[in-house]
Amino acid sequence: MAQAGLVAKSGDYKTIVYVICSVAALGGLLFGLDQGFIANSLGTIQQHYHLGVHDGERYSSILATGGIAGALLSGIFARFLGRKRSLLFAGFIFTAASAFSALLPSLPVLSACRFALGFGVGVASFIVPLFLSETAPASIRGSMGTLFQLMITIGIFLISLTNVFIARTFVNPATSLPLMFLTITLFAALMFVGGFMLPESPRWLMLKGRRTDAVAVLRRTLSTEQEIDQEIEEIEQALHGPQGAGVGIVMRGYFIKVLAVGVLLQVFQQLVGINMMIYYSPTIFGYAGMKGLLAAMTVPTVNMLFTFPAIRLVEKWGRKKLLYIGAITMLVTMIAAGAAFQAIGSISDPSMIGSTPKAVLLASAILYIFGFAVSWGPVVWLVCSEIFPLEGREIGMTITTMVNWTFAGLVMANALSFMQAHGNASIFYVFAGFCVLAVAFVALFVPETKGITLEQMEFNLKNGVPLRELGDHVSGH
Ligand code: BGC
Repeated sequence: MAQAGLVAKSGDYKTIVYVICSVAALGGLLFGLDQGFIANSLGTIQQHYHLGVHDGERYSSILATGGIAGALLSGIFARFLGRKRSLLFAGFIFTAASAFSALLPSLPVLSACRFALGFGVGVASFIVPLFLSETAPASIRGSMGTLFQLMITIGIFLISLTNVFIARTFVNPATSLPLMFLTITLFAALMFVGGFMLPESPRWLMLKGRRTDAVAVLRRTLSTEQEIDQEIEEIEQALHGPQGAGVGIVMRGYFIKVLAVGVLLQVFQQLVGINMMIYYSPTIFGYAGMKGLLAAMTVPTVNMLFTFPAIRLVEKWGRKKLLYIGAITMLVTMIAAGAAFQAIGSISDPSMIGSTPKAVLLASAILYIFGFAVSWGPVVWLVCSEIFPLEGREIGMTITTMVNWTFAGLVMANALSFMQAHGNASIFYVFAGFCVLAVAFVALFVPETKGITLEQMEFNLKNGVPLRELGDHVSGH
């Protein structure tokens, strides 16, 4: 443990802060690596394991089932094991499950590994933001929150790129598939090993009555004695305030209202179709006769690049404006993509497909992903972390995270077969329909949470202010 004498000047962060941020960033990266894995590996997996469309969908979507289980149990892990051990646990699962997959076991075992990877993602997606918010110095907490979504998109990008590269270099799936899984193992092992260097969260230590240990950790992360005293005082105040209210809170009227907002935001985040585009864009472009790097890399690249401006715009323009812009952009582009597919009809020879539908399809995919990345991607997670009253934040975020995975799984498990059954254009019109509903929902029920303190919003909520005005009333209390 660092001694008081090691306390550095305020302003320059200690090495441990960089370790914390890097390990936490790896948690986000692994989320993305697993989420983005399928796009450019599905063909190889189907080839090696002789899978049809349905089996491929089933294998892809089992990640979401694991994610639901992981999210469900992560609150319990966080409380009883502590934040650090939960992160180590997630790192271990990522490492073991991806390394085991690289051995190319039988399909049921490979699927069990993907479930385990999903479980790790579910745990990490709850613990990482929690750990960051409790451990990173206050001055960088805000940007650390958005770092998580950014790392997800970087992970999706990275794995798409490495998988394309591997698939092209090694044509034999028995060689390429293990290498694809080992890419995940590499980052997973880094997270696992790095996890041992993490300090435990001071808040969790205080929660367990271990004040001396908590102070020792703060000595390692903060710079001055004054900052340490202040932090300890804040934690104590929070611990004496309303505590996690247990499952009983879901019966309280005011909680049910914000829970409904969080849940529906997550439902729409998935039903606008993002993961169909993330998972299956190379397949979809393939239907339209487009192959190669353009088909493989367009979606992950645009998704990553446009998450950067979102981080600023969310504070400048507010959450709702971005949600509108995103949903309307996705609505228009999904209709355009549907029309392009209708024009292509049943032509199966790529050279017979006209350049106009191809160009429309490509442009609409790019704009669609822009629409999501700049809005619904980061904003939904952000709003879900802002709307719940303190005593119900853990349970609220657990439920909304589970809903996210449930609907992600639903889309992954059905999108391709829906296209096969009802024609390629059909699914785009379905997603467009959900964009319309999403716009109406934002207008009627979603509060603007920009620039209002969480405490004020909680006060408004408990005093019966209508949902969509929760962020507008600033009153003394
Ligand atoms: C969503 C994921 C999606 C990712 C894409 C996240 O906000 O929850 O389902 O794959 O964004 O960037």
